Amino acid sequence: VDTLEQAVAAAAAASRRAGVEIWLAVGQRDADEAVEVLSEVWPGMTLAADVVHALAYAGNYVSIARVGATAVGASVAFRGHDAEGPLLHSHSTGVLPGTEGAASGYALKLHQRAWALAEDLPRIEWTFDPLVARNAFFNVTKLGATVERFHEDFYGQLADGVNAGDESDRFVVIWRLAGERASSAAAGRAEAPDIARLRSAGAQVVLAVGADGEPVVADVDGEVVLAQVPTDIVALRRRDPALATAWRRGARAVFGPALRSGRRVVGVDRDGWYVLG
Ligand SMILES: CC(C)(COP(=O)(O)OP(=O)(O)OC[C@H]1O[C@@H](n2cnc3c(N)ncnc32)[C@H](O)[C@@H]1OP(=O)(O)O)[C@@H](O)C(=O)NCCC(=O)NCCS
Repeated sequence: VDTLEQAVAAAAAASRRAGVEIWLAVGQRDADEAVEVLSEVWPGMTLAADVVHALAYAGNYVSIARVGATAVGASVAFRGHDAEGPLLHSHSTGVLPGTEGAASGYALKLHQRAWALAEDLPRIEWTFDPLVARNAFFNVTKLGATVERFHEDFYGQLADGVNAGDESDRFVVIWRLAGERASSAAAGRAEAPDIARLRSAGAQVVLAVGADGEPVVADVDGEVVLAQVPTDIVALRRRDPALATAWRRGARAVFGPALRSGRRVVGVDRDGWYVLG
């Protein structure tokens, strides 16, 4: 498991590889810049720049990923506390459209992790849409987080261009920062689960993409079960809103009861397969 020094070194290496520098926001202009970036990622999203400035001023985490003087990504997170103790709640992290997949989001998250460990916050939590397969892979596999809770329509209606018209069901990701999974992920040893192997070992499928792209829900049980979601729900929402709604309902029917009964997401592969253990 990582020490703070290792976390700082991993974050610095990630920034170098991505070719970005991560800066903590200082002052209203930086806060404006962070909000500008995030509103390009989620057009129409409402995040008040004065509140973001106040959050940074009060000792929360607001950062910007820059290439030279140009901002390419940003992250806004604030301190919280629950029955398990102190935590950082990451509200919004994103990189500009067209720059995804170049590892600057990964660099932002590793910077956030090192910052939180230095602040004695052992855990970062955030929410994501269970239907967004790429985020699931990024969160669970690339970062080494787990998913332990599911909420129906967590934010109510969201007006941004990515989520508008859909109900905002969310998984809560828990990133135990000094734990084994997070540490190996930060060291570049993230491993995606082998779904074919799990299936031949007897793992059954509770949710899968059917022949016409529809959700197929099955009533199965077992220590480990598998659930598949579409590879690109954001495109599907635009192309076929009715089918996207069917997916919202199908995923809710599977993930809600599974997480309430104590199952956890322990792995996600690149093709939208979840492993529920
Ligand atoms: C999610 C996000 C922050 C990841 O940052 P990133 O710089 O793209 O991260 P990386 O390049 O290190 O990793 C991307 C990996 O995550 C996955 N991924 C997640 N979202 C992706 C996206 N929109 N485009 C491409 N890959 C994405 C890919 O599988 C990729 O894996 P690979 O590089 O091993 O093939 C970034 O893609 C993003 O801002 N997306 C839009 C906003 C968003 O969804 N934010 C997170 C909400 S929880």
